[in-house]
Amino acid sequence: MLTHAAPSIENLKHLFASVPETPALLIDLKVLRSDFLDFKRSFAGSRICYAIKANSHPEILTELYALGCDFEISSLGELHHLQSLGIRGDRIISSNPIKSPLFIREAYAAGLRHFVFDSKAEVDKLAELAPNSSPCIRLTVPNEGSEWPLDKKFGVGPEMALQLLLLAKAKGLKPAGVTFHIGSQNRELEGWPIALRIVRDLWDKAKKKGIRLNTLNIGGGMPVYYTNPDFPSVAEIAKTVAATRDTLFPAGVETFLEPGRAMVARAGTIVTTVVGVADRDGTRWVYIDTGIFQGLAEALGGIKYRYLTHASGPVEQCTLAGPSCDSMDTIARDVMLPQVKVGDRIAIPACGAYTTSYNTDFNGFPGPRVITVG
Ligand SMILES: Cc1ncc(COP(=O)(O)O)c(C=O)c1O
Repeated sequence: MLTHAAPSIENLKHLFASVPETPALLIDLKVLRSDFLDFKRSFAGSRICYAIKANSHPEILTELYALGCDFEISSLGELHHLQSLGIRGDRIISSNPIKSPLFIREAYAAGLRHFVFDSKAEVDKLAELAPNSSPCIRLTVPNEGSEWPLDKKFGVGPEMALQLLLLAKAKGLKPAGVTFHIGSQNRELEGWPIALRIVRDLWDKAKKKGIRLNTLNIGGGMPVYYTNPDFPSVAEIAKTVAATRDTLFPAGVETFLEPGRAMVARAGTIVTTVVGVADRDGTRWVYIDTGIFQGLAEALGGIKYRYLTHASGPVEQCTLAGPSCDSMDTIARDVMLPQVKVGDRIAIPACGAYTTSYNTDFNGFPGPRVITVG
């Protein structure tokens, strides 16, 4: 397990000075490049497909493309966005188990061949609209340790997976392998070997039925530092995955991964301004100019961010809320802050992923403007 040092707030002054207007999401491209290269080194020989839902800012995508990163998409909008940046179909995969027929048709025409299915309806669509493609089955695996589980909406158990693989083959598809997601922001290293052992079992059963699989797509889920400093590094996860894979699977298995959060979170810092403070029923409320509807939606699902300010004075427990006139726009109830006042700045690190991609302009409040540096 890696333990990160507590963040220094010495450089906050410089950070705040570089952001004339808030809310803003500052993306440090140097950090992005370094984090991609960490993935590349750690997962040498694997195909890294950045899940662009995490942050599809054009500069992020072009930087990653230039470094050799491939991409994972779910929708026509994401396909068109990549195409508008000159990114070719053979550098794109789609692992959304539920795809619109229109998307499958266009994606196939654009050269995508790696799709995912976990239902009969999806096999039917792929057989008709992406004939000869080589899709993977999405297997459910435990999401223990994940702060953002994904095991209810997608995936099937091993028995159904085997039936669907057989159906896919019977319909002329070339089932290539298995994919899973151990849940986003998963801090349990053991989750990967557990998932791989479940895959191995299905792999063997498929082989007995005449289906030779060759693709292992381990999805995303790699964690980042929000408030809990104990989590496995990308290198530790890669080492564990490689060791388990090399023990359980034949040599030459093609490995894919689809990191979203861990690729971009660290590169991004949201800078906000305090727009109101109030004392209600013994609780100090601090209102900032960005909230649940402008980038901090994951706070609703349990992601706990860090909040840094250089205001001084005694630290107290506050409830932090966004600017909209809606009570759902309450970001966190247990934030320790010094006594901030209207106009003070607050920085929220590790905000490069799943922030601006969730933006709305609800109630007329704009989301963070992206500023790239580095
Ligand atoms: C199919 C798929 N791949 C990859 C990802 C990225 O996961 P993470 O951001 O946890 O790395 C997701 C996230 O929802 C996903 O649904």
